[in-house]
Amino acid sequence: MLNIYPIIAGVGIVISIISAMKKAPFFNYLGILMAMYGLLKCVEFVAPPLPGQVILMYMAMFVFTFLIYFSIKEDQFQAFLRPMKTVLADDDKKILRVLIVYIMIPVLAGYITYGKVKPQLAPPTSARIVHPEPPASITFRGEKISLLGAESPVRNDTANRDKHFEAGKRIYYQNCFYCHGDDLAGNGYIADAFNPRPLPFRGTDTIAQLPEGFVFYRIAKGWTTLPAGSTPWDSSMPAFDTFLTVEEVWQVTFFIYEATGNKPR
Ligand code: HEC
Repeated sequence: MLNIYPIIAGVGIVISIISAMKKAPFFNYLGILMAMYGLLKCVEFVAPPLPGQVILMYMAMFVFTFLIYFSIKEDQFQAFLRPMKTVLADDDKKILRVLIVYIMIPVLAGYITYGKVKPQLAPPTSARIVHPEPPASITFRGEKISLLGAESPVRNDTANRDKHFEAGKRIYYQNCFYCHGDDLAGNGYIADAFNPRPLPFRGTDTIAQLPEGFVFYRIAKGWTTLPAGSTPWDSSMPAFDTFLTVEEVWQVTFFIYEATGNKPR
């Protein structure tokens, strides 16, 4: 889709330059605000897009900063107010007044509001919290393991890296691949049977976003400790703490990171 924000920024810059040359501070002001808005929206070409809240904050700042700038000199401020006074008070501008105040502004407000309340025909998506809040600690076969800032003993044991990797690989291909896929892409041969589907570990959306202790917790406890608030869960992710040892769960955790080239957050 065509991105209109560079155009908005460009038009804003042109308007502000022309109106600055014609000494029309009000339109200069509008042009600057338009250019700023367009530029803030263009940030997404070089960096992650700014959240709407941040843009709102910056825009509020620009609105006041430039208002102060344009009102600081008396004659400039009078010139700034002139277009508004003309439209609102001059006798010979009745038609323009009716057009702008009674037609354009209400229609614009109505249009914007309609866009927000328009009936949605698509079925509501069931919001499911993909990464539920983990508990502070879990009991793993009677052993209490703290999850806050938990560090992987396997990852830290760099001298035995290959041993842990091989062990994790064996555990993965004995227990996980028929759901999470032999390529760790979430497409194991029984994956289609489940909704929600087994998650892929490749890509940047799943384990790459998670601390290793959280992933350890999800493998150890599977669906069994998912908070009720995160329904609909219907998760088929098994709890492996009844079957694997603490070290084995750390090893398979290590393996799914290493095999996909991801790093824990
Ligand atoms: C019966 C199918 C099945 C098996 C077997 C299975 N999983 Fe899962 N797993 C799932 C499903 C479905 C989800 C997504 C729903 C959820 O998060 O509970 C999931 C989610 C996960 C998550 C959460 C990822 C995230 O980004 O939140 C991890 C980690 C995970 N599985 C690891 C494993 C490991 C490691 C094994 C083997 C030891 C394994 N799974 C075996 C079905 C399975």
